[in-house]
Amino acid sequence: MADASLIAAAVEARLKAYAPYSRFLVGAAVKDERGKVHAGCNVENAAYPEGTCAEAGAVAAMIMGGGRKITEAAVIGAGDALVTPCGGCRQKLREFGAPDLVIHVCDEKGKIRRSFTLAELLPESFGPENLSA
Ligand code: THU
Repeated sequence: MADASLIAAAVEARLKAYAPYSRFLVGAAVKDERGKVHAGCNVENAAYPEGTCAEAGAVAAMIMGGGRKITEAAVIGAGDALVTPCGGCRQKLREFGAPDLVIHVCDEKGKIRRSFTLAELLPESFGPENLSA
């Protein structure tokens, strides 16, 4: 069962997106180990590669809020295709999430279209454990 407050936070975050170039609004939210929810939106830039994804904003908000582990995540976007996290964001989620972390991919209203585990989206991943030998 998905956390309704997590999905609601991502829906709300999406409405704050700054996406004048792609016009593609994305919202994301992560729940931390204390149950606190942190949200982010995409923030584009006239120098296109400098834009940031919604997931990156949510992760940064979690770190600023004192969270260190992601226990559930949601990504919200419109359109026919599933708005799954981009490759870079999968790795960003990996830093703070276990392989069984569930990521809900939702439409713009917050209806879950599909839920994936992090391991499904980023199999055989490299993470912090690789550096702790
Ligand atoms: N975007 C995200 O915010 N998250 C993703 O996982 C996929 C893409 C944003 C980046 C850019 O602002 C817009 O969507 C179009 O790519």
